[in-house]
Amino acid sequence: MFKIQSDDQLLQFESASDDTLLSAALRAELAFPYECNSGGCGACKIEVLEGEVNNLWPDAPGLSDRERRKGRLLACQCKAQSDLRIKVINRAEGRALYPPARFSARVVGKRFLSEEMFELQLEAEQEVIFSPGQYFMVELPELGARAYSAANPVDGNRLTLIIKAVPGGKVSCALAHDRVETLQLDGPYGLSVLTTADEQQSVFIAGGSGIAPMLSMANTLISEGYEHPIKVFYGSRLKAELEMAESLFLSADNLKLINVLSNLDHNTRWQGKTGYLHDVIPIYLECFQNTEFYLCGPPPMISAVQKLLMIENGVPFESIHFDRFF
Ligand SMILES: Cc1cc2nc3c(=O)[nH]c(=O)nc-3n(C[C@H](O)[C@H](O)[C@H](O)COP(=O)(O)OP(=O)(O)OC[C@H]3O[C@@H](n4cnc5c(N)ncnc54)[C@H](O)[C@@H]3O)c2cc1C
Ligand code: FES
Repeated sequence: MFKIQSDDQLLQFESASDDTLLSAALRAELAFPYECNSGGCGACKIEVLEGEVNNLWPDAPGLSDRERRKGRLLACQCKAQSDLRIKVINRAEGRALYPPARFSARVVGKRFLSEEMFELQLEAEQEVIFSPGQYFMVELPELGARAYSAANPVDGNRLTLIIKAVPGGKVSCALAHDRVETLQLDGPYGLSVLTTADEQQSVFIAGGSGIAPMLSMANTLISEGYEHPIKVFYGSRLKAELEMAESLFLSADNLKLINVLSNLDHNTRWQGKTGYLHDVIPIYLECFQNTEFYLCGPPPMISAVQKLLMIENGVPFESIHFDRFF
């Protein structure tokens, strides 16, 4: 175990040489800035003032070339090789409700929902603890670890993942096409979680595999008897994915699912809306205030919807919860 200390003395924790600095800090129940745990967002930037680290992904897109030249590193991509003194660049937004832990789970079911998207049903050796909206790192030996969001409400030792097989993607394609009986997981991670207090409605906006955490959150609300309106905007370029979404949400009178096909070709018969989510949302949403918004999907979709909500409709930042799928 190595001792890690921040220059302002606010963070002191221990990290094993096989753990990233970010995971070790969260396991110690400390508030550390992060979002994706995947090298994409740059929230976990640090500088190492004393000591040595092993950088797992030196070219990770979460850092600009300028930041790399200044010696900045990503805590989610660095493992300690000695005791360290570090400077944490950003401020932590909040503390995780549950510290992440490693565990293994058996694959007990797998079904394809479209030609690209599949559902994995897992049964863990222990209770799977998380807040709806959070994600787990799935590690395949030799290939690496990737983030996948829980798609089910909390359910004992059961965990459901919905994964899109990305063309040429190492982990997603191996999970889609190889025979995998047991998975190593680490989690939960993520600060974009279900929050209910004074809101008058909850709005979920998802693109592609971003549907996974929306299912976990919306189905949790429905099963707990939430009485305010629940609106789900789901965008995909595959009609089959929009149709399967209809069957994955629990039925409830207060749930409205608005499916949006992002590209309509001449061979597709489609009666519903087409285009970009940020163009369709204002058609169905008269009121943007007293609303909790949950966004999940590719980074350009999240940016376009954030602009619609914050700049064009004055939604406060605290009411927008998002996970970008890097
Ligand atoms: C918070 C979060 C939640 C997500 N939830 C889901 C989900 O529920 N369902 C879903 O289908 N997808 C989800 N994703 C996307 C998922 O994690 C993968 O990026 C996706 O499956 C592609 O992985 P791949 O190995 O198939 O593709 P590849 O192209 O082989 O891998 C690329 C991805 O791996 C990550 N990566 C980490 N370390 C390295 C490294 N050293 N070198 C290269 N790449 C690295 C990067 O994030 C990159 O985007 C989520 C992503 C994030 C950040
Ligand atoms: S949390 Fe490290 S880059 Fe996103």
